[in-house]
Amino acid sequence: MDASATAELTSRFQARFGRPPEALTRAPGRVELLGNHTDYNLGLIMALAVDKTVRLAAAPRADREVQFVSTAFPETAHFSLDRIEPDPAVPWADYAKGILRLLQERGARLGGFDLLLDSSIPLGGGLSSSAAMLVGTALTVRKLYPYRLTSDGVGTAPARGARGVLPPLDAAEKMILAHVCQAAENHFVGVKCGLLDYIVSLFGRAAQVVLIDCLNLSVDWTPLAADMAVVICHSGVKHALVAGEYNERRALCEAAAAALGVRALRFVNPADLEAGRAKLTDRQYGCALHVVGENDRVERGADLLRRGDLASFGELLRQSHESSRLHFLNSCPELDVLVELAWSHPACIGARLTGGGFGGATLNLVRPAAVEDFRRHMAEGYARRCQRPLESWACQVVNGAN
Ligand code: GLA
Repeated sequence: MDASATAELTSRFQARFGRPPEALTRAPGRVELLGNHTDYNLGLIMALAVDKTVRLAAAPRADREVQFVSTAFPETAHFSLDRIEPDPAVPWADYAKGILRLLQERGARLGGFDLLLDSSIPLGGGLSSSAAMLVGTALTVRKLYPYRLTSDGVGTAPARGARGVLPPLDAAEKMILAHVCQAAENHFVGVKCGLLDYIVSLFGRAAQVVLIDCLNLSVDWTPLAADMAVVICHSGVKHALVAGEYNERRALCEAAAAALGVRALRFVNPADLEAGRAKLTDRQYGCALHVVGENDRVERGADLLRRGDLASFGELLRQSHESSRLHFLNSCPELDVLVELAWSHPACIGARLTGGGFGGATLNLVRPAAVEDFRRHMAEGYARRCQRPLESWACQVVNGAN
């Protein structure tokens, strides 16, 4: 966290709780570049951690009470670590509660604390504020009550080094934490999301694309081309029943894999899919076509980025969006308009919906010199075509949570 953000968060915490914080954490939001709905199909993803972040400040308490305060919501969550239940009156705190419950179930010995959360990640903007909140809460609590995650529980807690600082999580432990966060969101909040959001928030690197293989859970990085800026356009549309739509697509993918006789769609290539088409319903086929195509596009995309072929890379983004629109059916008219408008700007390298879909945001890769002109063009066009204001952000690609 930079010095001014640290000072601001510290003074807000002090003003709210009357003592200084003992732990400060930042966790970034994420943008999926390619590899839509591939994560829970054990597939491939390219993504970026961006400078829209959750920042947390916390200090321990002598009892087992937890108090969560957010700068964005008037309601405060106050509960005991011995009785963690979702609360419809303070739904934003359910994510953090979910991770606390799971950490305790694994054997982490936690105590009470006060926590202040400040987020620059727009809610419902497709940048996964929930994942950043989960990751950020887990890391903040670790700084107060150290734990070490193992594959089936917790091991001996790490020792603090000079000035009381804990060693950072290694890659294996980050991956375990990603799974714990996913379980918290799956069980406590009810969206059957995959691992993408947590992995990127934890493994992001400044100016680099994170490459994830969800089959062997390996992570790699490749530089993002310097002459390419990232602009997020938020449709402002959030369709009702997003969780239901998401879970339904996931079920269709799993049913398609089962009908094709494989563990997951990762094991299906385009030729297998055509050969097995008669075994699938139309909707299963559409979903499988999208996922199989996305895996292929990620593989080709990583190669194109390494070779600096931005035009061909952008073309893959176009295909990805078309596949969402026509096959996976997770786009919506507003997202289609945004993508169409983006492509009509001469500085656009690529545009597509990003994340779950059904509303939310589009990802745009744009020539850096034209970013402001591009954002103006998008806002004007969106107001004209959809009678809606457009929020957009030019994002920097940043390091993962710490
Ligand atoms: C949401 C989910 C992720 C992933 C994307 C689609 O962001 O949380 O797990 O499935 O949608 O790629």
